[in-house]
Amino acid sequence: MTTTVLDHPLVHHKLSLIRDRKTPGSLFRTLIEEVGLLLAVEATRTLPVEPVVIETPLERTESQRLRQLDPVLVPVLRAGLGLLPSFLRLLPTAKVGHLGLYRDHDSLVPVPYYRNFPPLLEARPVFVLDPMLATGGSASEAVRQLKGAGAANLTLVAVLAAPEGLRRLQEDHPDLRIIVGAVDRQLNEKGYILPGLGDAGDRLFGTA
Ligand code: PRP
Ligand code: URA
Repeated sequence: MTTTVLDHPLVHHKLSLIRDRKTPGSLFRTLIEEVGLLLAVEATRTLPVEPVVIETPLERTESQRLRQLDPVLVPVLRAGLGLLPSFLRLLPTAKVGHLGLYRDHDSLVPVPYYRNFPPLLEARPVFVLDPMLATGGSASEAVRQLKGAGAANLTLVAVLAAPEGLRRLQEDHPDLRIIVGAVDRQLNEKGYILPGLGDAGDRLFGTA
C-alpha cells in the first residue's frame, strides 16, 4: 500500500480552519472543497496520458491528453459528496458511482444501503472519496465492493486518517493507493478521530 500525506502550507492552513469547531457549515464546505482540489491534483498524478498532435495558432506540435476512457469517482455517502465537486472540476467528464454506507453507532461496522457503479470499472482508474478514514471499516468495505465489481486500479482519497484505519487498510487491501491531507493521532472510544474535525457528514450537511 502506498500512502501519500500532502505536506503543503495551504493544506495545513485550511485544515486548521476545518478543524476549528467555530467554523460555520458554509465555510466548512468551501474549505473541504478547497482541500479536495489539492488532494485531486496529487491523486490524479498517475492518470495515463496519450500523445496527440495539435495545431497551435503558430505551428503543429505534439502534446498529451488524458486517455479517452474516463476515470470513475466514487463518493462514499454522505460525507464523500463534499469532495466530489473538486474532483469533477478537474475531471469534468469522469463517471460517478455512488456507494451508501453508514457506520453503526455501537459496533462501528459499516452498513451498506445504496450502490450504483458505472460500467467498465475494470478498465478505469477509480477514486474513492471519503473525507474521514477512522477505523477503516467503511473504506475497506467500499474497496471490497468495488473490487468485487471489477475495479483493479483504486485510489482512496481522504482529508484525515487515523493510524488505526491505515493499518486496517494495509491488512485488507495492500494494493491500495491512499492520498490523505493529514494523519491524526488516534481514535477515541467512540471511533472518532483525535484531534480530528468532528463528524464530517453532520458538519457538511448541517445535521448535528
Ligand atoms: C463517516 C465517514 C466515513 C466513516 C469513517 O461516515 O464519512 O464514511 O464515517 O469511519 P470508519 O473509518 O470508522 O468506517 P458516517 O458513517 O458517519 O456516515 P455519513 O457520511 O452519512 O455521516
Ligand atoms: N467519521 C467522522 O465523520 N468523523 C470521525 O472522526 C470519524 C468518523
